[in-house]
Amino acid sequence: MSQTSERGQWSSKIGFILAAAGSAIGLGNVWRFPYVTGQNGGAAFVFVYLACVLIIGLPYLYAELALGRYAQKNPVGAIASIRPGSAWVWVGGLGVITGLFILSFYAVIAGWTFGYIFKMLMHSHMEFTSFVANTPIVIFLFVLFILFTVLVVYGGVQEGIEKWSKILMPVLFLLLLALIVYVNFLPGSGKGLAFYLKPDFSKITGKVVLAALGQAFFSLSLGMGLMITYGSYISKQDNLFSSGLWVAIADTLIAIMAGLIIFPALFAMNQNPAAGPGLVFQVLPAVFEKMPGGIYIGAVFFLLLSIAALTSTISLLEVPTAYLVDEKRVARKIAVWVVAIFTFLLGLPSALSQGAVGWLSRPIVGGMEFLSLIDFLFGNISLAFGAFLLSIFVGWVWGAKHAAAELALGYHGSPALLKLWSFLIRFLVPVFIFVILLNLFKIF
Ligand code: TRP
Repeated sequence: MSQTSERGQWSSKIGFILAAAGSAIGLGNVWRFPYVTGQNGGAAFVFVYLACVLIIGLPYLYAELALGRYAQKNPVGAIASIRPGSAWVWVGGLGVITGLFILSFYAVIAGWTFGYIFKMLMHSHMEFTSFVANTPIVIFLFVLFILFTVLVVYGGVQEGIEKWSKILMPVLFLLLLALIVYVNFLPGSGKGLAFYLKPDFSKITGKVVLAALGQAFFSLSLGMGLMITYGSYISKQDNLFSSGLWVAIADTLIAIMAGLIIFPALFAMNQNPAAGPGLVFQVLPAVFEKMPGGIYIGAVFFLLLSIAALTSTISLLEVPTAYLVDEKRVARKIAVWVVAIFTFLLGLPSALSQGAVGWLSRPIVGGMEFLSLIDFLFGNISLAFGAFLLSIFVGWVWGAKHAAAELALGYHGSPALLKLWSFLIRFLVPVFIFVILLNLFKIF
């Protein structure tokens, strides 16, 4: 990233694409997508997920980018610049709070990921369930990961991170590709592939669509104003349509690839696809153990995944920080620490909810223990609700005409696409999200 604490711009179109893809690609693709797919019946979920990305996520991504580039501000400031003093500003505030809560449990999982590098290297046979129930280990890793994030954002080593990601993300891609080939030769893997790719459409229920919609927002980093913030640094000459499309393609590709590894491996090892948040951590090490040199491959895998997670936590930390800096005039370095300490306090119960503390680890509602509940409430519902409100704001309050005019800058394609987009953002996106959110009443 090339923005300074003053308003800056991405160094180039590719600079934005890399940063936005860095935010989008993370644990959401490799950890969350497979476990949510497993819990929601497999291929039918994947089908609904792809539809949600294409007809809801992508048009909505353009709305956030257009608003951000137009207003040149963080979410709260961007909304306030269009409707000063109105209640709409609270939508930006909701995004800031949602970001804090997502970061709180995301850093816990990122901590496990980092810990698994060493667990692999040490040949540790500790079960996943004992690992995450070990209070000192999980707290240490959780704090460490928050500190990594703070150091990157605070020290402005973004230069370094950007250069690293350019090299390491293609390495992650190649490693995933190699793993896909390997696991699909394991005996029994074919059943996993069928589970993942052969849809049984009778499995599609309101609950499945709600999970798919939430996963689409989570994975694309949408619904809390992050893309408003990142969009505010895009040059007026850039084509928002193609930039956004690249981000969505890269993100979706990595998620699909993760599934092509997890499910064949899972069925080859006779494990349960609905195992929940521990799924990836239980399946993959078992695969690595079988491979020649697998310990090192496993360690490299968890290292690359940690870095992918870091480029996501940076973006999650950025929204509340930018808010404090822009709107509350807090010095950037203080703002980063304030957000970090808050994240720690919010995330502590999540860190302890995987066996370390009994009452936090028991199901609270809908079979979800603390971490899964926070993930569901903020990583799913709150993002969908935020996207619902923001699509109405962009489509009706600011107005699809103004937004389309912003999208038209740097765009040389057919005006019909702008018309289609206006229709989607005013009607299809908010109505679809609203109807799907009604399924909440069936869950609670
Ligand atoms: N998209 C990231 C992932 O898939 C997580 C993430 C980063 C995020 N920033 C976000 C999710 C902003 C929602 C909003 O791992």
